[in-house]
Amino acid sequence: LPRMNRVFNFGAGPAMLPVEILEEAQAELLNWQGMGLSILELGHRTEAFIALLDDTEQLLRSLLAIPAHYEVLFLGGSARIQFGMIPLNFLHPGETAGYLVTGLWSALAFEEAKRLMSAYCIASGEADKFQSVPPVQDWVIQDNATYLYFTPNETVHGVRTEFPAVFQGLSCIADMTSCLLTEPITITDYQLIFAGAQKNIANAGLTLVIVNKDWLARIDNTQLPLMLDYRTHVKHRSLYATPPTFNCYLAHKMFQWVQRQGGIASMYHNNVLKAGKLYDYLDASSFYDASVEKSARSLVNVCFRTRDATQEARFLQEAQQNGLFALAGHRAAGGLRASLYNAMPMQGVDALIDFMQNFAHSKDK
Ligand SMILES: Cc1ncc(COP(=O)(O)O)c(C=O)c1O
Repeated sequence: LPRMNRVFNFGAGPAMLPVEILEEAQAELLNWQGMGLSILELGHRTEAFIALLDDTEQLLRSLLAIPAHYEVLFLGGSARIQFGMIPLNFLHPGETAGYLVTGLWSALAFEEAKRLMSAYCIASGEADKFQSVPPVQDWVIQDNATYLYFTPNETVHGVRTEFPAVFQGLSCIADMTSCLLTEPITITDYQLIFAGAQKNIANAGLTLVIVNKDWLARIDNTQLPLMLDYRTHVKHRSLYATPPTFNCYLAHKMFQWVQRQGGIASMYHNNVLKAGKLYDYLDASSFYDASVEKSARSLVNVCFRTRDATQEARFLQEAQQNGLFALAGHRAAGGLRASLYNAMPMQGVDALIDFMQNFAHSKDK
C-alpha cells in the first residue's frame, strides 16, 4: 500500500482516486497557484478558473481525440439527470428512440424516456437476470428511431456491451458513467456520450457530456427549463450556473494522471490485465463463481458470488479487516463485486486474490 493507513477501495462509486492526486489537492488546498486561497473559494468566472476549465477540456479532447465539431460540457448534478434530458431535448412528439436494456442503468434510462416521451426496447437481458447481452439477431432496430441508446458498461450487473456493429452509421447515445477513459472509443460513433465523474474522473457531482454540435440543432423544445436545455450550457460554456468547481479541478488532475500513465491505450491494457487476472482466478475456483457470460464480462466491475451464499457476510467482514473495502454487490443484484477502475493498481487485485484464496481455503477445511 502506498500509505499504511489506506485501504484498497473496490467500491463502484464514489470510487478510489490515485493517492498522488489526493496529496496534490491536499498540498494545494490553502494556497492554489500562489493565489492565497483554495480552489474551493475561487469564483467560477475568474480568469484563473476559466483557464483551468479550458485546460481540463483540452486534456479530455486530447485523451479521447474529440473532434472540433463536438462540444464538451461540465455539468453539475448526477448522471441520472441525463436520463431525462436526453429524451426531452432530442425526441420530438411522435418520434421514438430505441433502448438496449442490459442492466439496471439502461433499464432506468428506458423507463424515464418512456415516462417523458416515447421509447421502445431494442432487446432486454432481464429474462436472463442481466447475465448476458441478448443475441444481436433478436434485436429490434426500428428505421425511424431518432436515436439508439445503450450502456457500454453496466456497473451493477458487471455487463459489457461493445459498440454494436448494427449501430454503425445510426444516431447513437451512450451512458459511459463507469467506462469513460477505461478503454478506447471512437467519438464519432456517437451523437452524445455522458459520464458521471465518480468512477474514473473526479468526485461525485460532476457529469461530462460530449455531444455532436450538428445533433444539437435537433432541439426545438421551447418548454424546456433552461438548466435542462443542452443549448444553454453550450452557449454559456458550462458557466450558466455555478459548475462544481472542485470536481472540475480534480478532473483536471485525473486527466493529467491518465496522460502520464500513457493515455487511454495504457489504461485499457492495465484494465484487461487486472480484470483478466481476477476472472481467471474465479474461473479456476470451485469456491467462487462469476456468472456473467464470458463474452459480456465487464472490464471494471467484476461480479461474483461464493457458491455457498451463506459465506458472503463473513467474506465482506473479513475482507474489510484485511484492508479490502466495499466488495458488496449492488443492492439490486446482491453477491459480491470488485470494481477495478483506472485508479485501482494491480497490487489491489493481487491483495484481493490472496485474500480470496485464504478465505476459500479456511472455509473449505
Ligand atoms: C452506468 C451508470 N449510469 C448512471 C449511474 C447513475 O449515476 P448518478 O448516481 O450520478 O445519477 C451510475 C451510477 O453508478 C452508473 O454506473
